[in-house]
Amino acid sequence: MTLQTPMPETAAPLLEVRDLVKHHGQVRAVDGVSFHIRAGETVGLVGESGCGKSTLGRAIMGLAPLTSGEVRLDGAVISGLPYAQVRPLRKRMQMVFQDPYASLNPRRRVGQIIEEPLKVHGLGSAKARRAQVIELMARVGLPADAAGRFPHEFSGGQRQRVGIARALALSPALIVADEPVSALDVSVQAQVVNLMVRLQQEMGLSYLFISHDLAVVHYIADRILVMYLGKIVEVSDRARVWKQPLHPYTAGLLAAHPSPDPAGAHRPHLRIEGDMPSPTAPPPGCRFHTRCPFKVERCASEEPALRALNDGRSVACHLVEVSADGIAHAPTERTAAPIRSAEPALPLSPS
Ligand SMILES: Nc1ncnc2c1ncn2[C@@H]1O[C@H](COP(=O)(O)OP(=O)(O)OP(=O)(O)O)[C@@H](O)[C@H]1O
Ligand SMILES: [Mg+2]
Repeated sequence: MTLQTPMPETAAPLLEVRDLVKHHGQVRAVDGVSFHIRAGETVGLVGESGCGKSTLGRAIMGLAPLTSGEVRLDGAVISGLPYAQVRPLRKRMQMVFQDPYASLNPRRRVGQIIEEPLKVHGLGSAKARRAQVIELMARVGLPADAAGRFPHEFSGGQRQRVGIARALALSPALIVADEPVSALDVSVQAQVVNLMVRLQQEMGLSYLFISHDLAVVHYIADRILVMYLGKIVEVSDRARVWKQPLHPYTAGLLAAHPSPDPAGAHRPHLRIEGDMPSPTAPPPGCRFHTRCPFKVERCASEEPALRALNDGRSVACHLVEVSADGIAHAPTERTAAPIRSAEPALPLSPS
């Protein structure tokens, strides 16, 4: 009789990203990002348009060379390898894109589209592949007659099902889904997200789920990475990102969503003003300080590290305080004395 040994704590995560930097010329799109995804986990990546989410997803997939840093799959480095070495590993990672129409060849029938990865990797006989396509279509809820039809004959939600079926063809361990539901009607979004949840349970998949919408990420993700101007500013979990955001930027993303439950009613309604600064010249110190309502002088000069808290979260903010009982506190007006404005805040004399 053998004893079942638990997986050691030191077992390599499925995906590990170490200090990933990806610049597009002068554009510092991703500027030092580290995180991991465990087997079976869904990690959400959220942040406003242009913060570097797609660049990060594509860099992980090896679709563009890294400026620096490392990507590991099951502990083995996969970044910076010649294509011939990466190709077999690519079966383990697949991508689902925002616009299922642009990413599906309009001249090919749905069956051919789903079969293509199997053909490219030389898997199975033509007959076996056809059987697999039928099984994949059933799995994602496409009708059996879909195989002979073209992408334009389907609705957006069904086209995304085709994109997902194609991504599943090689039985990947990880799917990087870049805004997979952002182009869909709200009613259809829930159907596709629920399909992804079910597929994860059935197939033990891991997801990196990218969205600019915190509500969508909150719905599906176990852990959530909040990205701002090329950096991760907070790593939280599903419940706490919604109930107790620590970074002012996370609180600002949340303020856009009405509180769904009474427990969240006391959420600070933090409004983040202005636009994200250009990633060609990120602000010094904390990149968020130009828009932060709590900033102090230190924030403009000293960059906050992404520090791990003892409650499993991480945050990059000088003003998050951990009290003696180990509880982390988000900044408030009380804890942060704002920088005095050069202009008087009040009229000097009433007129
Ligand atoms: N191929 C490229 N060449 C030059 N700049 C690029 C390229 N791809 C992205 N960028 C720039 O890098 C920054 C990050 O872009 P990215 O597409 O990664 O952001 P994103 O978070 O995915 O945004 P969105 O929510 O709009 O999809 C932006 O300033 C963008 O203009
Ligand atoms: Mg994007």
